[in-house]
Amino acid sequence: MKIAIDGTAASGKGTLARRLANSLGYDYLDTGLLYRVVALQALKLGMTSFGDNIKEPTQNETIKRSTIIKLTTIALSLSLPILDSPELRSQKISSLAAAVASLPEIRQALIKKQRNFAHSPPSNSGAVLDGRDIGSVILPKADFKFFIDAKPEIRAKRRFAQLKDTKSNQTQETILKELNERDKTDSTRQFAPLKRLSDAIFIDSSSLNADEVLQIALNYING
Ligand code: C5P
Repeated sequence: MKIAIDGTAASGKGTLARRLANSLGYDYLDTGLLYRVVALQALKLGMTSFGDNIKEPTQNETIKRSTIIKLTTIALSLSLPILDSPELRSQKISSLAAAVASLPEIRQALIKKQRNFAHSPPSNSGAVLDGRDIGSVILPKADFKFFIDAKPEIRAKRRFAQLKDTKSNQTQETILKELNERDKTDSTRQFAPLKRLSDAIFIDSSSLNADEVLQIALNYING
């Protein structure tokens, strides 16, 4: 059994994917973490802000090429599972992950790992993957496809509430801006853009809590 969950940033797709995997006894892969790890390495290679060294049109082509080759090697050598950490969740890494994720070389390097996980999950049961291109590219034949979205203001409010307990100094407004920018980058990029597929079950989580979203998804799965 393979379940694909796509959706906008901070829509609750990760929460649904994790809880769905828990309740069904399946394995869960947060594919955004793969792009975040590559972005962290990009930052260590000297890229400091969104677009640096990656999309800058005026940048020297040779430097750009060599950066992409280095990042592709990093992407190819990643091994699962990837441990989540606050460092990978920072705003800088989120923006850089979206820049890195627009490179076809990086996406290609990560496809096989995601498909291997889905086809041979560690527990040999089923797999739940969440991301932006799971239903469209990684698992076009998934048993179930979901697309999760919520109003941007509500997503920003939820993310702000989550970050309140951490040392983050982001405001709800800066979070909203970052989410909107990232959704735009993700849905307008040339390769594997975020899109709502006609065969995906759409859930608007704006007025739903995590339990309600889980219940709706389980109702579809259990028929
Ligand atoms: O899901 P998360 O917000 O952690 O993903 C970070 C970024 O990684 C996204 O904004 C997107 O650019 C990229 N991503 C992607 N395809 C996926 C998962 C994430 O392009 N399957």
